[in-house]
Amino acid sequence: MDSILKLVLEEVTPKPEEKKALERAVSDIIRKLLDVRDKHGWSYDVMHLGSTARDTWLSGSRDIDIFLAFPLSEDERTLEEVGVKAGIEVSEGRYELLYSSHPYVRIEHMGFEIDIVPCYKVSNASQLRSAVDRTQLHQRYLKEKLTPRLCGEIRLMKAFAKGIGVYGAETKTRGFSGYLLELLVLYYGSFLEAVRAASRWKPPIIIDIERYYTPREAREVFDAPIIVVDPVDRRRNAAAAVGRQALSAFIAASSVFLAKPSILFFKPPQRRLPNEVSEHIAVVVFKLPKAPPDVQWSQLEKACSKIRAYMEEHGAQILGSGFWTDEVDTGALAFKLASWQIPEARVHYGPFVWQREASMKFIERHLGREDTAEGPFIQDFRWVVVKKRESDVLKVLKRLLSDSSTMKSIGVPSRIAGSIEEGYKLFTEKNILELKGTRLEAFLTKVIDRTPQYVRWGRRDLNPRPPALH
Ligand code: CTP
Ligand code: MG
Repeated sequence: MDSILKLVLEEVTPKPEEKKALERAVSDIIRKLLDVRDKHGWSYDVMHLGSTARDTWLSGSRDIDIFLAFPLSEDERTLEEVGVKAGIEVSEGRYELLYSSHPYVRIEHMGFEIDIVPCYKVSNASQLRSAVDRTQLHQRYLKEKLTPRLCGEIRLMKAFAKGIGVYGAETKTRGFSGYLLELLVLYYGSFLEAVRAASRWKPPIIIDIERYYTPREAREVFDAPIIVVDPVDRRRNAAAAVGRQALSAFIAASSVFLAKPSILFFKPPQRRLPNEVSEHIAVVVFKLPKAPPDVQWSQLEKACSKIRAYMEEHGAQILGSGFWTDEVDTGALAFKLASWQIPEARVHYGPFVWQREASMKFIERHLGREDTAEGPFIQDFRWVVVKKRESDVLKVLKRLLSDSSTMKSIGVPSRIAGSIEEGYKLFTEKNILELKGTRLEAFLTKVIDRTPQYVRWGRRDLNPRPPALH
Protein backbone atom coordinates (compact mmCIF):
# COMPACT_ATOMS: atom_id res chain seq x y z
CA MET A 1 0.00 0.00 0.00
CA ASP A 2 2.68 2.49 1.04
CA SER A 3 4.62 2.01 -2.16
CA ILE A 4 1.49 2.47 -4.29
CA LEU A 5 0.61 5.71 -2.55
CA LYS A 6 4.16 6.97 -2.80
CA LEU A 7 4.25 6.28 -6.51
CA VAL A 8 0.89 7.93 -7.13
CA LEU A 9 1.78 10.96 -5.04
CA GLU A 10 4.91 11.46 -7.08
CA GLU A 11 2.91 11.38 -10.29
CA VAL A 12 0.12 13.70 -9.21
CA THR A 13 2.30 16.33 -7.54
CA PRO A 14 3.20 19.05 -10.02
CA LYS A 15 6.92 19.29 -10.71
CA PRO A 16 8.73 22.53 -9.79
CA GLU A 17 8.74 23.65 -13.45
CA GLU A 18 5.01 23.09 -13.68
CA LYS A 19 4.43 25.11 -10.52
CA LYS A 20 6.65 27.89 -11.84
CA ALA A 21 4.80 28.03 -15.13
CA LEU A 22 1.53 28.25 -13.23
CA GLU A 23 2.81 31.01 -10.96
CA ARG A 24 4.02 32.96 -13.98
CA ALA A 25 0.63 32.68 -15.66
CA VAL A 26 -1.17 33.67 -12.46
CA SER A 27 0.95 36.72 -11.71
CA ASP A 28 0.80 37.79 -15.33
CA ILE A 29 -3.00 37.65 -15.51
CA ILE A 30 -3.37 39.33 -12.13
CA ARG A 31 -1.15 42.20 -13.30
CA LYS A 32 -3.18 42.56 -16.50
CA LEU A 33 -6.46 42.58 -14.57
CA LEU A 34 -5.13 45.24 -12.22
CA ASP A 35 -3.91 47.31 -15.18
CA VAL A 36 -7.29 47.35 -16.93
CA ARG A 37 -8.97 48.08 -13.60
CA ASP A 38 -6.79 51.16 -13.05
CA LYS A 39 -7.12 52.25 -16.65
CA HIS A 40 -10.95 52.28 -16.41
CA GLY A 41 -11.24 53.27 -12.76
CA TRP A 42 -13.06 50.02 -11.89
CA SER A 43 -13.23 48.80 -8.32
CA TYR A 44 -12.39 45.18 -7.72
CA ASP A 45 -9.74 43.18 -5.95
CA VAL A 46 -8.17 40.33 -7.86
CA MET A 47 -8.08 37.03 -5.98
CA HIS A 48 -6.49 33.75 -7.00
CA LEU A 49 -8.65 30.97 -5.49
CA GLY A 50 -9.40 27.27 -5.97
CA SER A 51 -7.00 24.35 -5.96
CA THR A 52 -4.15 26.09 -7.77
CA ALA A 53 -4.09 28.72 -5.04
CA ARG A 54 -4.07 26.08 -2.29
CA ASP A 55 -1.49 23.78 -3.84
CA THR A 56 -4.00 20.95 -4.06
CA TRP A 57 -4.25 20.70 -7.86
CA LEU A 58 -3.38 17.58 -9.76
CA SER A 59 -0.34 17.65 -11.98
CA GLY A 60 -1.40 18.17 -15.56
CA SER A 61 -4.59 20.01 -14.72
CA ARG A 62 -4.61 23.41 -16.34
CA ASP A 63 -7.48 25.22 -14.67
CA ILE A 64 -6.88 28.45 -12.81
CA ASP A 65 -9.66 30.22 -10.89
CA ILE A 66 -9.36 34.00 -10.69
CA PHE A 67 -12.04 36.02 -8.94
CA LEU A 68 -12.75 39.72 -9.25
CA ALA A 69 -14.09 40.76 -5.87
CA PHE A 70 -16.29 43.87 -5.94
CA PRO A 71 -17.34 45.89 -2.89
CA LEU A 72 -20.77 44.98 -1.52
CA SER A 73 -21.95 48.47 -2.44
CA GLU A 74 -21.59 47.72 -6.17
CA ASP A 75 -24.87 46.95 -7.92
CA GLU A 76 -25.20 43.57 -9.56
CA ARG A 77 -25.49 44.83 -13.13
CA THR A 78 -22.24 46.77 -12.90
CA LEU A 79 -20.49 43.80 -11.31
CA GLU A 80 -21.55 41.54 -14.17
CA GLU A 81 -20.76 44.07 -16.89
CA VAL A 82 -17.38 45.11 -15.55
CA GLY A 83 -16.44 41.53 -14.71
CA VAL A 84 -17.09 40.36 -18.23
CA LYS A 85 -15.47 43.43 -19.85
CA ALA A 86 -12.33 42.99 -17.78
CA GLY A 87 -12.13 39.30 -18.66
CA ILE A 88 -12.57 39.98 -22.35
CA GLU A 89 -10.09 42.83 -22.34
CA VAL A 90 -7.26 40.70 -20.95
CA SER A 91 -8.11 37.77 -23.21
CA GLU A 92 -6.50 39.07 -26.39
CA GLY A 93 -9.64 38.08 -28.24
CA ARG A 94 -9.73 34.37 -27.38
CA TYR A 95 -12.40 33.88 -24.77
CA GLU A 96 -15.57 31.97 -23.98
CA LEU A 97 -18.54 33.52 -22.19
CA LEU A 98 -20.07 31.15 -19.62
CA TYR A 99 -22.75 31.24 -16.96
CA SER A 100 -23.08 29.88 -13.48
CA SER A 101 -24.92 32.24 -11.14
CA HIS A 102 -23.29 35.18 -12.99
CA PRO A 103 -21.76 35.35 -16.41
CA TYR A 104 -18.00 34.80 -16.37
CA VAL A 105 -15.18 34.58 -18.86
CA ARG A 106 -12.89 31.67 -19.66
CA ILE A 107 -9.64 32.44 -21.44
CA GLU A 108 -6.56 30.63 -22.67
CA HIS A 109 -3.45 32.20 -21.23
CA MET A 110 0.15 30.98 -21.28
CA GLY A 111 -0.94 27.36 -21.63
CA PHE A 112 -3.58 27.50 -18.90
CA GLU A 113 -7.35 27.77 -18.95
CA ILE A 114 -8.30 30.63 -16.69
CA ASP A 115 -11.80 31.34 -15.38
CA ILE A 116 -12.32 34.98 -14.53
CA VAL A 117 -15.32 35.17 -12.23
CA PRO A 118 -16.86 38.34 -10.78
CA CYS A 119 -18.11 38.11 -7.19
CA TYR A 120 -18.67 40.21 -4.09
CA LYS A 121 -15.99 40.65 -1.49
CA VAL A 122 -17.35 39.19 1.73
CA SER A 123 -15.88 38.31 5.09
CA ASN A 124 -18.50 35.87 6.39
CA ALA A 125 -21.44 33.76 5.29
CA SER A 126 -24.07 36.29 6.37
CA GLN A 127 -22.87 38.65 3.61
CA LEU A 128 -23.14 36.08 0.79
CA ARG A 129 -25.05 37.27 -2.26
CA SER A 130 -24.28 34.53 -4.76
CA ALA A 131 -22.86 31.02 -4.76
CA VAL A 132 -19.50 32.13 -6.11
CA ASP A 133 -18.95 34.52 -3.18
CA ARG A 134 -18.43 31.51 -0.96
CA THR A 135 -15.24 30.48 -2.75
CA GLN A 136 -13.11 33.16 -1.04
CA LEU A 137 -14.34 31.90 2.33
CA HIS A 138 -13.39 28.34 1.39
CA GLN A 139 -9.96 29.59 0.52
CA ARG A 140 -9.46 31.39 3.82
CA TYR A 141 -10.72 28.40 5.81
CA LEU A 142 -8.59 25.80 4.05
CA LYS A 143 -5.46 27.92 3.81
CA GLU A 144 -5.42 28.10 7.57
CA LYS A 145 -5.78 24.34 8.05
CA LEU A 146 -3.78 22.83 5.22
CA THR A 147 -0.22 21.64 5.65
CA PRO A 148 2.10 20.32 2.92
CA ARG A 149 1.34 16.78 4.11
CA LEU A 150 -2.42 17.34 3.85
CA CYS A 151 -2.03 18.84 0.38
CA GLY A 152 -0.43 15.57 -0.70
CA GLU A 153 -3.20 13.54 0.92
CA ILE A 154 -5.75 15.67 -0.94
CA ARG A 155 -3.99 15.02 -4.23
CA LEU A 156 -4.21 11.27 -3.57
CA MET A 157 -7.89 11.63 -2.73
CA LYS A 158 -8.60 13.59 -5.92
CA ALA A 159 -6.66 11.08 -8.03
CA PHE A 160 -8.59 8.19 -6.47
CA ALA A 161 -11.94 9.89 -7.04
CA LYS A 162 -10.95 10.63 -10.62
CA GLY A 163 -9.78 7.07 -11.23
CA ILE A 164 -13.05 5.54 -10.06
CA GLY A 165 -15.08 8.12 -12.02
CA VAL A 166 -16.67 10.17 -9.23
CA TYR A 167 -14.63 13.38 -9.37
CA GLY A 168 -16.65 16.49 -10.14
CA ALA A 169 -19.91 18.02 -8.98
CA GLU A 170 -21.23 18.75 -12.49
CA THR A 171 -24.42 17.12 -13.75
CA LYS A 172 -22.31 14.85 -15.93
CA THR A 173 -20.83 13.14 -12.87
CA ARG A 174 -22.98 14.16 -9.90
CA GLY A 175 -19.92 13.35 -7.86
CA PHE A 176 -17.46 14.83 -5.38
CA SER A 177 -16.17 18.38 -5.98
CA GLY A 178 -12.52 19.17 -5.29
CA TYR A 179 -13.55 21.21 -2.28
CA LEU A 180 -15.62 18.33 -0.85
CA LEU A 181 -12.68 15.94 -1.17
CA GLU A 182 -10.49 18.49 0.61
CA LEU A 183 -12.97 18.61 3.47
CA LEU A 184 -13.08 14.81 3.71
CA VAL A 185 -9.30 14.58 3.97
CA LEU A 186 -9.24 17.39 6.50
CA TYR A 187 -11.89 15.68 8.60
CA TYR A 188 -10.42 12.19 8.54
CA GLY A 189 -6.80 13.29 8.62
CA SER A 190 -5.42 11.47 5.59
CA PHE A 191 -6.33 9.84 2.31
CA LEU A 192 -6.21 6.35 3.76
CA GLU A 193 -8.25 7.24 6.83
CA ALA A 194 -10.87 8.87 4.60
CA VAL A 195 -11.05 5.76 2.44
CA ARG A 196 -11.28 3.53 5.54
CA ALA A 197 -14.14 5.65 6.83
CA ALA A 198 -15.89 5.68 3.45
CA SER A 199 -15.71 1.89 3.25
CA ARG A 200 -17.91 1.87 6.36
CA TRP A 201 -20.30 4.62 5.28
CA LYS A 202 -24.01 3.94 5.26
CA PRO A 203 -26.38 6.75 4.27
CA PRO A 204 -27.30 9.12 5.72
CA ILE A 205 -23.69 10.12 6.26
CA ILE A 206 -23.28 13.26 8.34
CA ILE A 207 -20.04 15.18 8.61
CA ASP A 208 -20.15 18.47 10.43
CA ILE A 209 -16.60 19.64 11.01
CA GLU A 210 -17.53 22.81 12.86
CA ARG A 211 -20.31 21.07 14.81
CA TYR A 212 -23.06 23.47 13.78
CA TYR A 213 -25.80 20.87 14.29
CA THR A 214 -26.67 17.71 16.14
CA PRO A 215 -26.94 14.78 13.68
CA ARG A 216 -30.69 14.95 13.97
CA GLU A 217 -30.84 18.65 13.19
CA ALA A 218 -28.51 18.14 10.23
CA ARG A 219 -30.84 15.48 8.84
CA GLU A 220 -33.78 17.79 9.22
CA VAL A 221 -32.07 20.78 7.58
CA PHE A 222 -30.58 18.83 4.68
CA ASP A 223 -32.41 16.02 3.02
CA ALA A 224 -29.59 14.12 1.34
CA PRO A 225 -27.81 10.74 1.53
CA ILE A 226 -24.54 12.49 2.36
CA ILE A 227 -24.39 15.70 4.33
CA VAL A 228 -21.12 17.58 4.70
CA VAL A 229 -21.97 20.87 6.34
CA ASP A 230 -19.89 23.58 4.71
CA PRO A 231 -17.64 24.84 7.52
CA VAL A 232 -17.88 28.39 6.17
CA ASP A 233 -21.64 28.36 5.68
CA ARG A 234 -23.89 26.30 7.91
CA ARG A 235 -26.79 26.61 5.47
CA ARG A 236 -24.99 24.72 2.75
CA ASN A 237 -24.40 21.02 2.22
CA ALA A 238 -21.04 20.85 0.43
CA ALA A 239 -22.03 17.36 -0.75
CA ALA A 240 -25.40 18.41 -2.16
CA ALA A 241 -24.35 17.49 -5.70
CA VAL A 242 -23.35 13.93 -4.82
CA GLY A 243 -25.77 11.51 -6.42
CA ARG A 244 -26.62 7.96 -5.40
CA GLN A 245 -24.49 6.42 -8.10
CA ALA A 246 -21.29 8.31 -7.25
CA LEU A 247 -21.84 7.83 -3.53
CA SER A 248 -22.27 4.06 -3.92
CA ALA A 249 -19.24 3.87 -6.18
CA PHE A 250 -17.14 5.74 -3.63
CA ILE A 251 -18.17 3.41 -0.81
CA ALA A 252 -17.78 0.24 -2.87
CA ALA A 253 -14.46 1.22 -4.44
CA SER A 254 -13.09 2.17 -1.01
CA SER A 255 -13.79 -1.33 0.32
CA VAL A 256 -12.33 -3.04 -2.70
CA PHE A 257 -9.27 -0.80 -2.66
CA LEU A 258 -8.55 -1.62 0.99
CA ALA A 259 -8.98 -5.35 0.32
CA LYS A 260 -6.79 -5.28 -2.75
CA PRO A 261 -4.86 -2.05 -3.22
CA SER A 262 -3.80 -1.43 -6.78
CA ILE A 263 -2.42 1.47 -8.73
CA LEU A 264 -5.18 0.84 -11.26
CA PHE A 265 -7.60 2.68 -8.98
CA PHE A 266 -5.65 5.83 -9.76
CA LYS A 267 -4.82 4.99 -13.36
CA PRO A 268 -7.65 2.91 -14.78
CA PRO A 269 -6.84 1.38 -18.14
CA GLN A 270 -8.82 2.78 -21.07
CA ARG A 271 -11.78 0.59 -21.88
CA ARG A 272 -12.15 -0.62 -25.44
CA LEU A 273 -15.02 -2.11 -27.38
CA PRO A 274 -14.50 -5.84 -27.95
CA ASN A 275 -13.96 -7.15 -31.48
CA GLU A 276 -17.41 -8.60 -31.50
CA VAL A 277 -20.54 -7.33 -29.79
CA SER A 278 -23.22 -9.94 -29.22
CA GLU A 279 -25.37 -7.90 -26.81
CA HIS A 280 -28.48 -6.32 -28.28
CA ILE A 281 -27.82 -2.64 -28.33
CA ALA A 282 -29.28 0.46 -29.99
CA VAL A 283 -27.28 3.68 -30.09
CA VAL A 284 -28.81 6.89 -31.41
CA VAL A 285 -26.30 9.60 -32.34
CA PHE A 286 -27.56 13.07 -33.23
CA LYS A 287 -26.74 16.75 -33.36
CA LEU A 288 -27.21 18.22 -29.92
CA PRO A 289 -28.33 21.86 -29.65
CA LYS A 290 -25.73 24.18 -28.16
CA ALA A 291 -26.18 24.83 -24.44
CA PRO A 292 -24.09 24.87 -21.25
CA PRO A 293 -22.82 21.32 -20.51
CA ASP A 294 -24.95 20.95 -17.37
CA VAL A 295 -28.05 21.69 -19.44
CA GLN A 296 -26.99 19.31 -22.18
CA TRP A 297 -26.36 16.47 -19.74
CA SER A 298 -29.60 16.91 -17.85
CA GLN A 299 -31.66 17.15 -21.04
CA LEU A 300 -30.04 14.00 -22.35
CA GLU A 301 -30.73 12.26 -19.07
CA LYS A 302 -34.38 13.17 -19.35
CA ALA A 303 -34.64 12.20 -23.02
CA CYS A 304 -33.02 8.86 -22.24
CA SER A 305 -35.34 7.97 -19.38
CA LYS A 306 -38.48 9.07 -21.27
CA ILE A 307 -37.61 7.12 -24.41
CA ARG A 308 -36.72 4.11 -22.30
CA ALA A 309 -40.06 4.28 -20.48
CA TYR A 310 -41.90 4.58 -23.81
CA MET A 311 -40.22 1.49 -25.20
CA GLU A 312 -40.92 -0.42 -22.01
CA GLU A 313 -44.56 0.56 -22.23
CA HIS A 314 -44.57 -0.90 -25.72
CA GLY A 315 -43.27 -4.16 -24.37
CA ALA A 316 -39.51 -3.90 -24.85
CA GLN A 317 -37.37 -5.34 -22.09
CA ILE A 318 -34.53 -2.93 -21.50
CA LEU A 319 -31.54 -4.06 -19.49
CA GLY A 320 -29.76 -0.76 -19.37
CA SER A 321 -29.46 2.67 -20.92
CA GLY A 322 -27.05 5.55 -21.03
CA PHE A 323 -26.39 8.95 -22.58
CA TRP A 324 -23.36 10.90 -23.65
CA THR A 325 -22.31 14.20 -25.15
CA ASP A 326 -19.04 15.75 -26.24
CA GLU A 327 -20.41 18.92 -24.61
CA VAL A 328 -20.22 20.64 -27.99
CA ASP A 329 -22.69 19.49 -30.62
CA THR A 330 -23.02 15.71 -30.47
CA GLY A 331 -25.38 13.70 -28.31
CA ALA A 332 -25.92 9.97 -27.96
CA LEU A 333 -28.53 7.76 -26.33
CA ALA A 334 -27.93 4.05 -25.89
CA PHE A 335 -30.19 1.19 -24.91
CA LYS A 336 -29.25 -2.35 -24.08
CA LEU A 337 -32.08 -4.76 -24.80
CA ALA A 338 -32.85 -8.25 -23.58
CA SER A 339 -34.17 -9.00 -27.07
CA TRP A 340 -35.08 -7.28 -30.32
CA GLN A 341 -38.38 -9.09 -30.20
CA ILE A 342 -41.43 -8.14 -28.21
CA PRO A 343 -44.15 -10.81 -27.70
CA GLU A 344 -46.66 -9.92 -30.40
CA ALA A 345 -49.75 -10.26 -28.27
CA ARG A 346 -50.64 -8.67 -24.98
CA VAL A 347 -53.52 -9.34 -22.59
CA HIS A 348 -55.65 -6.33 -21.78
CA TYR A 349 -58.15 -6.47 -18.90
CA GLY A 350 -61.48 -4.66 -19.14
CA PRO A 351 -64.39 -3.97 -16.79
CA PHE A 352 -66.37 -6.45 -14.66
CA VAL A 353 -69.40 -7.85 -16.46
CA TRP A 354 -71.79 -6.09 -14.08
CA GLN A 355 -70.34 -2.70 -15.01
CA ARG A 356 -72.92 -2.45 -17.74
CA GLU A 357 -72.02 0.74 -19.53
CA ALA A 358 -68.27 0.27 -19.33
CA SER A 359 -68.71 -3.28 -20.63
CA MET A 360 -70.69 -2.11 -23.65
CA LYS A 361 -68.05 0.48 -24.45
CA PHE A 362 -65.27 -2.07 -24.05
CA ILE A 363 -66.94 -4.50 -26.45
CA GLU A 364 -67.56 -1.70 -28.91
CA ARG A 365 -63.97 -0.57 -28.76
CA HIS A 366 -62.37 -3.99 -29.26
CA LEU A 367 -64.73 -6.34 -31.08
CA GLY A 368 -63.64 -6.98 -34.66
CA ARG A 369 -60.89 -4.38 -34.55
CA GLU A 370 -57.75 -4.87 -36.55
CA ASP A 371 -55.45 -4.85 -33.56
CA THR A 372 -57.60 -7.34 -31.62
CA ALA A 373 -56.19 -10.85 -31.75
CA GLU A 374 -58.88 -12.50 -29.64
CA GLY A 375 -61.99 -11.52 -27.74
CA PRO A 376 -63.48 -9.81 -25.96
CA PHE A 377 -64.04 -12.86 -23.78
CA ILE A 378 -64.89 -13.32 -20.12
CA GLN A 379 -62.50 -14.48 -17.47
CA ASP A 380 -62.98 -14.24 -13.70
CA PHE A 381 -66.00 -11.93 -14.01
CA ARG A 382 -64.14 -9.56 -16.34
CA TRP A 383 -64.07 -8.75 -20.00
CA VAL A 384 -60.67 -9.42 -21.50
CA VAL A 385 -59.10 -8.95 -24.94
CA VAL A 386 -55.85 -10.05 -26.46
CA LYS A 387 -54.34 -7.19 -28.49
CA LYS A 388 -51.78 -7.39 -31.29
CA ARG A 389 -48.81 -5.11 -31.15
CA GLU A 390 -45.59 -4.22 -32.92
CA SER A 391 -43.15 -7.00 -32.13
CA ASP A 392 -40.00 -5.38 -33.50
CA VAL A 393 -38.25 -3.10 -30.99
CA LEU A 394 -36.36 -1.37 -33.77
CA LYS A 395 -39.61 -0.39 -35.47
CA VAL A 396 -41.03 0.97 -32.23
CA LEU A 397 -37.89 3.02 -31.67
CA LYS A 398 -37.64 4.33 -35.24
CA ARG A 399 -41.30 5.30 -35.29
CA LEU A 400 -40.81 7.32 -32.14
CA LEU A 401 -37.60 8.99 -33.31
CA SER A 402 -39.18 10.14 -36.57
CA ASP A 403 -41.95 11.97 -34.76
CA SER A 404 -41.00 14.90 -32.56
CA SER A 405 -44.54 15.59 -31.38
CA THR A 406 -44.84 12.12 -29.84
CA MET A 407 -41.40 12.55 -28.33
CA LYS A 408 -42.44 15.88 -26.82
CA SER A 409 -45.70 14.45 -25.55
CA ILE A 410 -43.86 11.78 -23.57
CA GLY A 411 -41.54 14.39 -22.06
CA VAL A 412 -38.45 14.40 -24.27
CA PRO A 413 -37.04 17.98 -24.08
CA SER A 414 -38.33 19.77 -27.16
CA ARG A 415 -34.97 20.90 -28.52
CA ILE A 416 -33.72 17.33 -28.44
CA ALA A 417 -36.95 15.97 -29.94
CA GLY A 418 -36.70 18.47 -32.80
CA SER A 419 -33.08 17.74 -33.44
CA ILE A 420 -33.56 13.95 -33.53
CA GLU A 421 -36.52 14.27 -35.89
CA GLU A 422 -34.26 16.17 -38.28
CA GLY A 423 -31.84 13.29 -38.40
CA TYR A 424 -29.88 10.75 -36.45
CA LYS A 425 -27.60 7.81 -36.96
CA LEU A 426 -28.62 4.49 -35.52
CA PHE A 427 -26.10 1.86 -34.53
CA THR A 428 -26.88 -1.66 -33.37
CA GLU A 429 -24.59 -4.56 -32.53
CA LYS A 430 -24.33 -5.14 -36.28
CA ASN A 431 -22.45 -1.92 -36.98
CA ILE A 432 -21.47 -0.58 -33.57
CA LEU A 433 -17.85 -1.48 -34.19
CA GLU A 434 -17.78 1.46 -36.60
CA LEU A 435 -17.64 3.51 -33.40
CA LYS A 436 -14.44 1.83 -32.24
CA GLY A 437 -11.75 4.41 -31.80
CA THR A 438 -14.23 7.31 -31.64
CA ARG A 439 -14.96 9.50 -28.65
CA LEU A 440 -18.03 7.38 -27.91
CA GLU A 441 -16.07 4.23 -27.28
CA ALA A 442 -15.56 4.51 -23.51
CA PHE A 443 -19.21 5.41 -23.00
CA LEU A 444 -20.40 2.45 -25.09
CA THR A 445 -18.26 0.00 -23.17
CA LYS A 446 -20.05 1.16 -20.04
CA VAL A 447 -23.49 0.58 -21.54
CA ILE A 448 -22.54 -2.88 -22.73
CA ASP A 449 -20.86 -3.90 -19.47
CA ARG A 450 -21.71 -1.98 -16.33
CA THR A 451 -19.41 -3.97 -14.05
CA PRO A 452 -17.22 -1.43 -12.26
CA GLN A 453 -13.69 -2.17 -13.39
CA TYR A 454 -12.31 -2.13 -9.85
CA VAL A 455 -14.13 -5.32 -8.85
CA ARG A 456 -11.96 -7.08 -11.41
CA TRP A 457 -8.76 -5.62 -10.00
CA GLY A 458 -9.73 -6.79 -6.54
CA ARG A 459 -11.32 -10.08 -7.55
CA ARG A 460 -8.87 -12.69 -6.35
CA ASP A 461 -8.94 -11.42 -2.79
CA LEU A 462 -12.66 -10.92 -2.69
CA ASN A 463 -13.45 -14.34 -3.99
CA PRO A 464 -11.46 -16.90 -1.99
CA ARG A 465 -12.04 -19.67 -4.54
CA PRO A 466 -12.01 -18.15 -8.01
CA PRO A 467 -13.22 -20.35 -10.86
CA ALA A 468 -10.40 -22.23 -12.54
CA LEU A 469 -8.87 -20.32 -15.43
CA HIS A 470 -8.35 -22.07 -18.69
N1 CTP B 1 -16.83 25.43 -5.55
C1 CTP B 1 -17.82 24.98 -4.67
N2 CTP B 1 -18.71 24.03 -5.05
C2 CTP B 1 -18.63 23.47 -6.28
C3 CTP B 1 -17.64 23.89 -7.19
C4 CTP B 1 -16.75 24.88 -6.79
O1 CTP B 1 -17.92 25.46 -3.58
N3 CTP B 1 -19.52 22.53 -6.62
C5 CTP B 1 -15.86 26.47 -5.14
C6 CTP B 1 -14.80 25.89 -4.23
O2 CTP B 1 -14.46 26.88 -3.27
C7 CTP B 1 -13.65 25.64 -5.17
C8 CTP B 1 -13.78 26.78 -6.16
O3 CTP B 1 -15.18 27.02 -6.25
O4 CTP B 1 -12.42 25.62 -4.50
C9 CTP B 1 -13.18 26.48 -7.51
O5 CTP B 1 -13.88 25.43 -8.16
P1 CTP B 1 -13.18 24.27 -8.98
O6 CTP B 1 -12.15 24.82 -9.90
O7 CTP B 1 -14.26 23.45 -9.54
O8 CTP B 1 -12.50 23.37 -7.85
P2 CTP B 1 -11.07 23.41 -7.20
O9 CTP B 1 -11.22 23.49 -5.72
O10 CTP B 1 -10.22 24.44 -7.85
O11 CTP B 1 -10.53 21.96 -7.47
P3 CTP B 1 -10.00 21.33 -8.85
O12 CTP B 1 -9.93 22.43 -9.87
O13 CTP B 1 -8.68 20.75 -8.49
O14 CTP B 1 -11.01 20.30 -9.16
MG1 MG C 1 -10.04 24.78 -10.02
